[in-house]
Amino acid sequence: MKKTILVTGGAGFIGSHVVRRLVNRYPEYTIINYDKLTYAGNLENLSDVDQKPNYIFVKGDILDGDKLKEVFSQYTISGVIHLAAESHVDRSLHNPDEFAITNVIGTIRLLQAAKNAWNGNWEGKRFYHISTDEVYGSVEHGKFFTEETPIDPQSPYSSSKASSDHFVKAYGNSYKMPVVISRCSNNYGPNHFPEKLIPLMIHNILQKKPLPVYGKGENVRDWLFVEDHAAAIDTIFHKGKTGEVYNIGGNNEWKNIDLVYFLCKLMDSKLKRSEGESAKLITFVTDRPGHDLRYAIDATKLMTQLGWRPSVTFEQGLEKTVDWYLSNQEWLNHVTSGAYQQYYQNMYHNR
Ligand code: NAD
Ligand code: TYD
Repeated sequence: MKKTILVTGGAGFIGSHVVRRLVNRYPEYTIINYDKLTYAGNLENLSDVDQKPNYIFVKGDILDGDKLKEVFSQYTISGVIHLAAESHVDRSLHNPDEFAITNVIGTIRLLQAAKNAWNGNWEGKRFYHISTDEVYGSVEHGKFFTEETPIDPQSPYSSSKASSDHFVKAYGNSYKMPVVISRCSNNYGPNHFPEKLIPLMIHNILQKKPLPVYGKGENVRDWLFVEDHAAAIDTIFHKGKTGEVYNIGGNNEWKNIDLVYFLCKLMDSKLKRSEGESAKLITFVTDRPGHDLRYAIDATKLMTQLGWRPSVTFEQGLEKTVDWYLSNQEWLNHVTSGAYQQYYQNMYHNR
């Protein structure tokens, strides 16, 4: 069946994998990538699909109601997959209002544009909001986030995402807009901007620069390969029940310090360095304020009700990721030139 889907934030890390998957798997669909191209948005991420006839790029801000109106009137959009956001916790600590504006107000503008365009004709429509497990806050060892876990965000980033979740639910409840929400654990994989843990460590290992581990490296994250997240989004978009929330995760918890050692070992072998060489670069630095200790997702609902499963183990996914960075050093050079240097200096100089 023909469909036109508006994907916001499609030039970012996860969004680009979602766009690629939809463009390749559904040639009968039209996929519109609506992205402002902030520091995190990069059209190079989509160079392998940008010539396909079912792909359209629109440079636009989710805060720009007029532009959204124009796109909704130009195309017959029946589905929205909303990924555009400010996504980095450390940046949110320095600039919380930017997170509230983009993630909360931006989401409301997008909801409103869809509501105006669909005008109560909800048949065949879907507004899918991509959220994060971070809205649940931190969870003690032995427990897991389920869809019933109360929202308890702890950082400006997660607070802005939690607030946007509430607005999406409110549009579902108040106006009967057919909404669905998913909350995923930490992603890793190709095209990940090197401000986040795994790509930052890969970049610094390559450059033989210090590997900044916050605090004692005791914090736990639950890692999922980005293509598995894109597959889960595809599944939920097509099969998820309206009004529901789905957790997405691969049951793959790692303490930061263990993960960094593991990555160092893998990269030593790929780079033909002697074992232990990269680990010597590990440097413990001042912790992130209010640093959530542990995230751990229970994705049973998605697995049992919709049949999704991760396709790779962490070992396989991490090797694919490292191989991608090693063969795409040009990409890494592009995204780390210019403004990145200033960012790195500001964020890490006094840690
Ligand atoms: P990212 O920072 O890599 O990409 C964000 C994209 O949004 C960029 O392309 C950027 O240009 C675009 N964007 C930002 N502000 C915009 C605006 N005002 N208008 C239009 N486009 C704008 O983020 P990501 O890691 O790919 O995350 C995507 C989504 O998934 C986010 O909503 C995030 O909260 C969520 N999420 C991320 C993770 C993770 O581990 N990275 C995990 C769970 C959920
Ligand atoms: P990050 O990739 O920023 O994701 P999030 O904070 O959204 O989980 O960080 C993952 C973990 O790695 C988190 O516990 C913070 C830690 N971390 C470091 O120790 N050093 C770093 O340089 C970065 C960026 C993160």
